[in-house]
Amino acid sequence: MVLRGCGSATPSRSISNQELGQRVETSDEWIRSRTGIGARHVVGEKESLGELCGQASERALAMAGWDAESLNLILLATSTPEDLFGSAPRLQARIGAGNAVAFDLTAACSGFLFALVTASQYLRTGAMKRVLVVGADQLSRWVDWDDRRSCVLFGDAAAAVVLEASDDGQDDLQGFLLRSDGSRGEVLQLPQISDHDPLIAEASHQRGGFQPIQMNGQEVYKFAVREVPAILAKLLEETHTTADSLDWLLLHQANQRILDAVADRFDIPNSKVLSNLSHYGNTSAATIPLMLDEAVRDGRIKPGHQIASSGFGAGLSWGAALLRWSGPA
Ligand code: UT7
Repeated sequence: MVLRGCGSATPSRSISNQELGQRVETSDEWIRSRTGIGARHVVGEKESLGELCGQASERALAMAGWDAESLNLILLATSTPEDLFGSAPRLQARIGAGNAVAFDLTAACSGFLFALVTASQYLRTGAMKRVLVVGADQLSRWVDWDDRRSCVLFGDAAAAVVLEASDDGQDDLQGFLLRSDGSRGEVLQLPQISDHDPLIAEASHQRGGFQPIQMNGQEVYKFAVREVPAILAKLLEETHTTADSLDWLLLHQANQRILDAVADRFDIPNSKVLSNLSHYGNTSAATIPLMLDEAVRDGRIKPGHQIASSGFGAGLSWGAALLRWSGPA
């Protein structure tokens, strides 16, 4: 499969750490020193995640020079669909991709990487020729804005890539590993409410709805700094790649200290570690394509560059991929 285009869109309103101090007892100094985050964008009254997904997708298609009708498949990685039955078909209609089948895929902050790998399987078998993969989340809906231990971390965004089947054996997904461990899932969850209502005389039904995000930050941190280096080391070994041959390290943007710890483990210099946490915080499934899009558009990532990527988060779920950026044909 070949990576041909990328695009992203973020809500217009950015909320700085200082501004967040109006809501919870915190400080710019605490948030920056513990996380590297300086601000986050939050979907406002006149915006929607669906709109952001549409804009990100159209930008990715424009970069590749493709008509939306040429898409065969749309995968929307999100944990915050606007409709629990799935938001991908709405995106299909919004961008006019009438020939594409569209469905959602949920794997929290690992969602984009899981969706990218899923897309690559359709492309490698020849079942599909052109695929749009979107990572988008609006965790601001589900954050407890009075819980300073978690609310400072998250923001909203949508970002996309477009991929096509290779006709010359080239593969921009040079290797991947995916993992899940549900036995540790309680350290980061967005669970259903447990209320129920009477239905008839001797039966009740469980009410729909979700509780705010519940996170044990220290456990998630330990999970990330243990599992991400381990899975990246295995990926590099399996693909016979040395860390110093990488052009970029593109990790899920959760915390600058996690990025630094992983880079240190492989002696990767800061100049090769992509980070935009200071502007966006953790945008869940959107972080990796949002960062990719920024670095492609400002010229840091160039055609042929090799990128080691890793996503990790709720589930627990994590994964790693060795990618090459090709860009438009
Ligand atoms: O996609 C994955 C999503 N999740 C993550 O990436 C989370 C990973 N974990 C982390 O990034 C870090 O654990 C946090 C940034 C969430 C927390 O950093 P920490 O260094 O583990 O802080 P802590 O929870 O140990 O808290 C230290 C202190 C506590 O005060 P006391 O008990 O020592 O007096 C907290 O109450 O900092 C306090 N604190 C805050 N102070 C100011 C916690 N949150 C804040 C805050 N502002 N926002």
